[in-house]
Amino acid sequence: MNQGFPTEEVKEGAARILVPRLDKSTGEPVQRLQSQAPVFYNPVQKTNRDTAVLALRVHQSNVKRPLRVCEPMCGSGVRGIRLALEVPEVERVVMGDLSPSAIALAGENAKLNEVIGKVNLRLLDANLLMSLHGYPGGRFDYVDIDPYGSPSTFIDSGLIATRNHGLIALTATDMAPLCGVNPKACLRKYGGKPLQGEFCHEVALRLLAGLLVRQTAIQETAATPVFSYYADHYIRLYARVDKGAKRADALLEQMGFIKFCPECLHRFTSMDNKPENCILCGSQMRVGGPLWLGELAEEGFVSGMLEESYKLDHFAGSKAVNLVESVRDEIGFPVSFFIIDNICSIAKIKSMSTEEAIKRIKSAGFRVTMAHYDDRAIKTDASVKELEKVLGG
Ligand SMILES: C[S@@+](CC[C@H](N)C(=O)[O-])C[C@H]1O[C@@H](n2cnc3c(N)ncnc32)[C@H](O)[C@@H]1O
Ligand SMILES: [Zn+2]
Repeated sequence: MNQGFPTEEVKEGAARILVPRLDKSTGEPVQRLQSQAPVFYNPVQKTNRDTAVLALRVHQSNVKRPLRVCEPMCGSGVRGIRLALEVPEVERVVMGDLSPSAIALAGENAKLNEVIGKVNLRLLDANLLMSLHGYPGGRFDYVDIDPYGSPSTFIDSGLIATRNHGLIALTATDMAPLCGVNPKACLRKYGGKPLQGEFCHEVALRLLAGLLVRQTAIQETAATPVFSYYADHYIRLYARVDKGAKRADALLEQMGFIKFCPECLHRFTSMDNKPENCILCGSQMRVGGPLWLGELAEEGFVSGMLEESYKLDHFAGSKAVNLVESVRDEIGFPVSFFIIDNICSIAKIKSMSTEEAIKRIKSAGFRVTMAHYDDRAIKTDASVKELEKVLGG
């Protein structure tokens, strides 16, 4: 069918997808061309979709029943189609979008991949579509909210469309508010204060997780983060949704604040947001939150994602698998991470390779692992003072 705009076929995962052909001869940056295209398709977000495939495969292996999936902002349809093709026993994918061109193209793509029988296409606002499914028997095993910018206005309807023990996934691309460039917007959208500084991307994930935990608790339900990460200027969070006031209370107890000294990099978690001066250098500490202080991933779920990735040839060597491995290694470490160069700078020593830094920290008896947020990021149980000594000595 003629879409009314030029298309080209791309391959992603097990899917063949028609996407708008970008006119690169104009010399405009690719990102601008993508944002002006009649239907959204961003090849960089393949990693995001790869993680969705792995997460849903784990969920399937846990619940062992035919799955119903909702992608209320589907663009070209690539994500929902990949889930239909790459996750066993997906019986139904409801895909929605406000754009008629997106819905038409997603339909073409569903035909091209021979999954049209499993797909329902809805030209509807995402909140409306998800609310329409908020009744017993209408809910989904998996809801994937992938908007432009913040997912915060879609969380309530996403939750009522997710069945008990189901999975919800959120993407947020509004990194400026989440990382402290626009703190008022962060407070409005996420209900917490961001923290500018070396570990702002982890704070961003914790703000999003905190919002989800609180919004879910209102419905006497718990949203437990099972996998989450930062990459390519977005954050992504997967959470399991389990009914129960006590479960919700237990999660709320893991909400709190992070206090951070921008001068000497000292940081700690706190249950209060009282302003205070740094015990190491006397400077005024910044306070971020309220936010989620619990684990950002669940060991069993993440190990399951890795196992699932080994079953799919096209995941070999992928960025998604590296991410999942790194996130698994970070489980159990304290909140926040350090950038090696910043420690070296405050210790007034020459910077060193990540391997060398890790070797020194380990041989001083501390736990340490690379953190996925940055090539130079490490998580450790050593304090900033201990790190200065170990790396400087
Ligand atoms: C980031 S794109 C989604 C990309 C897609 N999930 C993927 O993996 O390629 C966001 C999509 O949401 C659609 N959209 C924006 N606001 C919406 C709303 N309120 N309801 C439904 N769709 C909406 C846009 O038309 C766009 O196609
Ligand atoms: Zn200090």
